[in-house]
Amino acid sequence: MNNNIVFFSTSENMFQLEDESIKLMVTSPPYWDLKNYEVDNQIGYKENYETYLERLYKVWSETYRVLRNDGFAIININTKSYKKNLVMIPNDFIKQLQQIGFKFIDLNYWHKSSGIPRVNNLGDHFEYFLIFSKSSNPLANDFSYFDYKYKTTNSKINIWNINKKFGSIGKKFMVHPAIFPVKYIERMINIFTQKNDLILDPFLGSGTTLIASINTDRFCVGYELNREGYLPLIKFRLEDFSIESDRVNFV
Ligand SMILES: C[S@@+](CC[C@H](N)C(=O)[O-])C[C@H]1O[C@@H](n2cnc3c(N)ncnc32)[C@H](O)[C@@H]1O
Repeated sequence: MNNNIVFFSTSENMFQLEDESIKLMVTSPPYWDLKNYEVDNQIGYKENYETYLERLYKVWSETYRVLRNDGFAIININTKSYKKNLVMIPNDFIKQLQQIGFKFIDLNYWHKSSGIPRVNNLGDHFEYFLIFSKSSNPLANDFSYFDYKYKTTNSKINIWNINKKFGSIGKKFMVHPAIFPVKYIERMINIFTQKNDLILDPFLGSGTTLIASINTDRFCVGYELNREGYLPLIKFRLEDFSIESDRVNFV
């Protein structure tokens, strides 16, 4: 598949995709019972934690199937404050992916300008990017995993400060409540893939990974449940980045 394609269906079953066809999966899954994406059958919202994890397990298993043997999976996730306790969702994801067969190879922190207070009342200003590989020898490829080539101010550390313009909790009229920055994903894509590689985002939302893939001369396949809400938004954002909508097949 050398095309950009968005499926408006659940990523719990990605039957449209061939085995071992994807070089990189990068995504931010729905939060556990925090944000409402205004669509039936969405993962996470008003769902108990076990069901949330079980449904995501299906997505990670499908990801493993469609990932090339030299492929990577990168998940953006945060902890959650629940009844004054901190739930280490990242830990549970790591266990899940390791059980499926992934190697957990690295951790990257996204330092954000906005955040909300949690258990201890301190503002929560970072999120994790968990980095996994399918093979146990992920560096034996002819691309650079290390990001020493990047010349930005915080290039040599694993905390990247790429600003999110604003937070979203409590704001009712946001077009999409959980957008990650295009620049962040472009940087990940540049490190972990080569031109013309195929990238997957099973929770495409407003289309950030699609835009970042096209901007870096890669192809993207995305899944998103909320067609009515987010198709117009994805098209709007493509236009904003001067990308013609007809470069993407919406299914
Ligand atoms: C955290 S947001 C992703 C935001 C995205 N990274 C962006 O920059 O816009 C999670 C998305 O997953 C979608 N979603 C929820 N359940 C889904 C499912 N079962 N299959 C596909 N998408 C789903 C939600 O509608 C929401 O847009």
